[in-house]
Parts: sequence; structure tokens; C-alpha cells
Amino acid sequence: MTVCSAPGKVYLFGEHAVVYGEPAVPAAIERRATVSAEPRADDHVRVEATDLSLDGFTVEYTGGTGDRPDVDVPTPLVEAAMGYVDAAVRQARAAADRPDAGFDITIESEIPLGAGLGSSAAVVVAGIDAATRALGEPIDRRELADRAYRAEFEVQDGQASRADTFCSTMGGAVRVEGDDCEPIDAPNLPFVVGFDGGAGDTGELVAGVRALKEEYRFAADTVRSIGDVVREGERLLADAVPGADPQRELLEDLGELMDFNHGLLSALGVSARSLDTMVWAARDAGAHGAKLTGAGGGGCVVALDPTDETETALSFTQGCEDAFRAELATEGVRVEGA
Ligand code: PMV
Repeated sequence: MTVCSAPGKVYLFGEHAVVYGEPAVPAAIERRATVSAEPRADDHVRVEATDLSLDGFTVEYTGGTGDRPDVDVPTPLVEAAMGYVDAAVRQARAAADRPDAGFDITIESEIPLGAGLGSSAAVVVAGIDAATRALGEPIDRRELADRAYRAEFEVQDGQASRADTFCSTMGGAVRVEGDDCEPIDAPNLPFVVGFDGGAGDTGELVAGVRALKEEYRFAADTVRSIGDVVREGERLLADAVPGADPQRELLEDLGELMDFNHGLLSALGVSARSLDTMVWAARDAGAHGAKLTGAGGGGCVVALDPTDETETALSFTQGCEDAFRAELATEGVRVEGA
């Protein structure tokens, strides 16, 4: 059996605009999905998920790619999670050139599903890594990131950038612009996350932004402005000391850009009352900046605050179900055991 884990992420800057070729800077956080894979004698895949922020479930299905798991918990989230596992298995079989490989897979995740923290990317990255290693055919991190992206692309009907999967594979902060992905140096940013308990529909939200952008030139300008915010943020990060606790002035400057980024996302219609409420609670508590992270519509906000104030304020904010500090995960995917 091989066990691998991969981190979730927050977007420091640039979600949605990244879909149209603008740069984005996601950063990996110490909330992980852990996947174990054990090859089977037949071509079946059995998946046991003990904690995907929903009730545990176990399904077994045969190796044919067209088969749907026979599961009597018809929640869309379970179906979505199964879609990602399925796609990860297909990528692992292709990478190892073992089209009939079967697996017993278990998934444990500390990352809420569909909430903008890259849960699906972490499951896919850790899953492909564990499954290929279990077959004795490990792949390098660039290929892993690429295969994980292709798995997400397939499940999300083409509405996926490389940001989540590359960041989860590499860890730390990364820069993504189209197909160009590179790790970047980052200081030890004091992220605080607020979670409203909900999830947004990424496909619908991306389609909404696309429609606005096609209808109004000012919406297209807004998308480009998000790119400008990201480029400004990259300049700030380039001057910071990697791995060190950042100076207050840097946090203030980054925070200002995060606030701006949230405003632009809000103009594009992807925020929500719960997200705005948490963003304002964080700012009122003294956070240097706060914004939604990921597709929006519901899910998580990320704030910068080295003190406990924001986390405490969020935990007392109506509509915030969970608030936690999220350390930058400097390590991406890793082997936890074999
Ligand atoms: O909510 P998440 O973590 O899946 O992030 C979606 C980010 C988008 O830019 C809206 C889409 C993408 O694939 O980049």
C-alpha cells in the first residue's frame, strides 16, 4: 500500500481572471488530503472516503471507464468526489501503462469540499501519486501536475486552470499564467481562513463571468484589472525575504491588493453575502486584507493577520462555520508511507 498526501490552497490573487490568461498566485496551505492506494488482483476500484466533510461512504465499481459506482448516497458532492477519483485512476493507469490496474483506495481529507481550498486538486494529485507509486511506476512532479490538471479538466468540462493542481503538487506559492507554471519565493504569510459551510458551483460561476465579459467591455476591463493586481502583488513578493516572517509594511501592501482583488471579484458577481460578511469581519478585526478564495458563490475567505484577532472575530461571525489559521505548506505532494 502506498500513502501520499497533498495540500489544499488559497488564492492570494487572481482566481477567475486566470481562466482568461491573466496570471494568478495561489499558495498551498497545511490542510491536506491523504490518499492510499493498494493494487488489486482484478480491475475493480474500491473507494473508501472516511472524511470528505460529508458522511463517510464506500463504493466499489469495476474497471470500465463508463461504469458508474453503485452508491445509494446520491448527493452531488459524493458524485463529484467519485468523478475526481475516477479521473485520477484513469491518469494513473495511463501513466503506468497498466489499463487494467485495479485499486483499493482510501481518502481522508482535512479540506472542505468545493469551498475554494482546492480539495479536488489535492485528492487528484495525492491519488495519482499514490496509485502510480503503488504500481511501481512513480512519475516526476511536472508530469504529476500535468496529469492532475488533465483529470480536473475532464471532470470540470474544460473549466479548469492549472493553478490548483500545480500548487498542490509543488507546495509553497506558485505563479500560473496559461500553461506557464512556476514556483515562486514567498514569505511566511499569516493566512486566516473563514468558511461559511457552503460551496459554490465553479462551472456556473465561471460561465457567469464569461457572459459578463462578453457582454460588457468594462467587465473585460475588470478581468484585466485583476491581472494588474496580480502583477503588482508579484512585485511585492519578489522583494520579500523567502520563508521569513513578513514585515508589517509588506502585509499592509499585500492586504490592500487583496481588498482590491475582492472588490473586482465582487463586481464580477462571484461574491456572496456570507463571503462579504466574513471579509468585513476580518477587516474590522484588523486583518491587513481579506478576499474570497476560489470560485466564490460560497465557501471560504482568506485574510492576512499575524495576530489571533481575525480568527477570533470570524469564529463569532454569524454565517462563519469554521475559522482557522492556515500555515503556508512549503511541501507539496509527499509520500506518507509505503
Ligand atoms: O474554487 P476552486 O478552488 O476550484 O477555484 C476555482 C478558480 C477559478 O479560477 C474560478 C477556476 C480555475 O480553474 O482556475
